[in-house]
Amino acid sequence: MINWGTLGFHYTEPDYIVRAACHNGVWEEPYATADKYLHLHVSATCLQYGQEAFEGLKAFRGIDGKIRIFRWRENAKRMARSAEGLYMTPVPEDLFGRAIHLALEKNMDFVPPYGTGATLYFRPLLIGTTPRLGVGPGKDFEFVVIPSPIGPYYPGKFHCTTFIVNRHVDRAAPFGTGQFKVGGNYASSFRATEAAHAMGFDCVFLDARFHRYIDECSAANFIGIKGNEYLTPKSSAILPSITNDSLMTLAREQGLKVTRRRIALEELDEFSEAAACGTAAVISPMDKILDPEMGKTYTFTSEPGPVLTKLYRALKDIQFGRTEDKHNWCEIIN
Ligand code: PLP
Ligand code: COI
Repeated sequence: MINWGTLGFHYTEPDYIVRAACHNGVWEEPYATADKYLHLHVSATCLQYGQEAFEGLKAFRGIDGKIRIFRWRENAKRMARSAEGLYMTPVPEDLFGRAIHLALEKNMDFVPPYGTGATLYFRPLLIGTTPRLGVGPGKDFEFVVIPSPIGPYYPGKFHCTTFIVNRHVDRAAPFGTGQFKVGGNYASSFRATEAAHAMGFDCVFLDARFHRYIDECSAANFIGIKGNEYLTPKSSAILPSITNDSLMTLAREQGLKVTRRRIALEELDEFSEAAACGTAAVISPMDKILDPEMGKTYTFTSEPGPVLTKLYRALKDIQFGRTEDKHNWCEIIN
C-alpha cells in the first residue's frame, strides 16, 4: 500500500517496465515486462563509454479523475536530439509515445490520486548495448521506460530553498553535452552537488568559460524575475527545459516580458525572485544564492514571491485539469 502523501522523489517499484531493442537502425516494437533487470554485456558501450541518454516526464490524475500526460512529444524530440548528440539511433517519436502509453496502461494502480501532490513519473532511458572495447559508438540500443510514482523533488509545501554557487566543477562545456540529457552530465556534477547537499543547499552552476554567467542548476533550469521581466539564461551548455518553455508561454500570457539571455551572477542583486524549474523541480523558489568564495549572498524572498507563485499555480492548474489547456499540452487518457 503506497502512502501517496509522503512520497518523495524516489523510486517505487512499478509492476511493469517497457522495453524495446534496436539493432542496425531497426527498432522492434515495445513490450511490457515485470523483470526490472537487463541482461547486458559487460562491454556494452553504455557501460564502457557512457553512451546513454534519458528523459523525465509526468502523468497527472486530474480533478476530473482523468489522467493527463504532459507534453510527451517534447520529451521524445529532446531524447532524439540527445541520441544524435551521443551517436545513437534515435527512438522514433511514435514508438516513444507507444512505450509511454503502454507503461501507463500496465501500471494504472501507480497513478497517484488527485489531491495527494504525487504524480506518475516516467523515466525513458536509451542505452548502447553493443559489446565494444575499442573506443567508438555501438549500433545496438535498448530503450526502456521506467514508471514510478513520485512526490515533490523538494519535499514539503511550496517553499524556498537555498542554493550555493559552485566554483569547483564545470558541469558542461560550451560545446559539450550540456544541451543533451545524458548521464555523464549528472555524474560529472555529483562532486559539486553532494558537497552542496552536505551543507543543506543545492547547486547553481556557472558557465564553464568565464565562470561569470549562470548556466543552470544540477537538475533544473534557472529562472528569475526582475521588475516585470521573466529572465532565463541563454547558454549552449544547458538543457532546453520543457517546463521553462511552458512557463515562458504562461509568463507572456500574464503580461510579463520574457527574455532569454546571458545573466551575470552580479545581476542577481536586481532580481526580486529566483527559482529552479523542471519536471521534477516544477518551480522551486530560491530564498538565497550563496557565493562564499566571493563573500557574497544574493537574497530574494523568504517565502515564494507573488510572480513565481502565480506561474506555479497556472502550470499546476493546467496539469491537474483545473483550467482550460489552451495550448493542448496535456494528452488526456480517459
Ligand atoms: N536542466 C537539467 C540539467 C535537468 O536535468 C532538467 C530536468 O529534466 C531540466 C533542466 C528541466 O527540464 P524539463 O523541464 O524538461 O524537465
Ligand atoms: C526531471 O526533472 O525530470 C529530471 O530528470 C531531473 C532529475 C531528477 C534528473
